[in-house]
Amino acid sequence: MASPTITLNNGTKIPAIGLGTWQSKPGEVKSAVEYALKEAGYRHIDCAWAYGNEKEVGDGIKASGVPRSEIFITSKLWGTFHTKVEECLDQTLAKLGTDYLDLYLIHWPIPLNPNGNDPVFPKLPDGTRDIDHAWDLKDTWKQMEAVYKKGKVKAIGVSNFSEKKLEEILPTAEVVPAANQLELHLYNPQHKLLAYLKSKGIVAQAYSPLGSTNTPLFADETATELAAKYQLQPADILLGYLLAKGMVVLPKSVTPARIASNFKGAIAALEKLDQADVERLDGVAPGGKQKRFITPPWGVDLGFDNWP
Ligand SMILES: NC(=O)c1ccc[n+]([C@@H]2O[C@H](COP(=O)([O-])OP(=O)(O)OC[C@H]3O[C@@H](n4cnc5c(N)ncnc54)[C@H](OP(=O)(O)O)[C@@H]3O)[C@@H](O)[C@H]2O)c1
Repeated sequence: MASPTITLNNGTKIPAIGLGTWQSKPGEVKSAVEYALKEAGYRHIDCAWAYGNEKEVGDGIKASGVPRSEIFITSKLWGTFHTKVEECLDQTLAKLGTDYLDLYLIHWPIPLNPNGNDPVFPKLPDGTRDIDHAWDLKDTWKQMEAVYKKGKVKAIGVSNFSEKKLEEILPTAEVVPAANQLELHLYNPQHKLLAYLKSKGIVAQAYSPLGSTNTPLFADETATELAAKYQLQPADILLGYLLAKGMVVLPKSVTPARIASNFKGAIAALEKLDQADVERLDGVAPGGKQKRFITPPWGVDLGFDNWP
């Protein structure tokens, strides 16, 4: 069974189901990636410099025996590298053991002090995040365009960009971002932002599609009811719903049975859910269940609705 694909605005095809790797621990992530590629049908792995596990992800890719050309690899530029995009990219390429990425994203629209007190989360003496307020996001995007033009990455995009943040880079962008990776799930569907992305030809990628660690979504009334109706798992309904809305989904698991069932179940749910089901699921968050799970304390206004 093959993953459905979506065509990005530069013609590149992206498999709509990718394996997430955030919080996948050393000693777990290599076998998870190997299993996903070799046994479960995945052809898309979602990585990031900041996850600190790209070397092991690369080992898993190699161990799978699946040719590099058949795998879609995404990684992300960390905040402390906004002024030196190619340096971060080169570190990621070396760790993953590849000479190109299929998609490279700006992880957050937040440039962090590259010379601060920590390489990942630099903080000021008062404990707040050490943000490089003088740096302009437009210049980060220019550097993203440069590595794209060099051919080191096949497509470029953003992550955690609200409409407000996209409007900071779009007026001077030569290349329109191909994708925006966002927290998107039953309880945080971001209907307004999705309509805006569609109008710009930017594909939405759903992170934390199951509601992340210790999710309450598997117990949601509507999801469990539809799961029973179609003899699927709630996880399948959560993923199939997002696929039906034209998004890429990035479920993370290091558990072989879940890695396999998320892939198969997402496709099965995509086939079964009808328009009325999708509309019903669309109404769950506006009906009182709206909730975000990933809200790092950046201390700046990102321009998102429903940010605490
Ligand atoms: N761009 C960003 O800023 C950003 C932020 C967050 C996430 N992401 C990306 O999106 C990916 C997914 O998000 P996420 O990791 O936050 O959360 P998620 O995929 O929504 O949920 C992962 C959690 O659900 C469990 N799980 C997975 N499948 C399951 C199933 N079928 N039944 C029961 N439990 C299941 C996993 O446990 P086990 O692993 O123990 O099986 C894990 O605890 C990340 O890994 C990362 O690649 C990106």
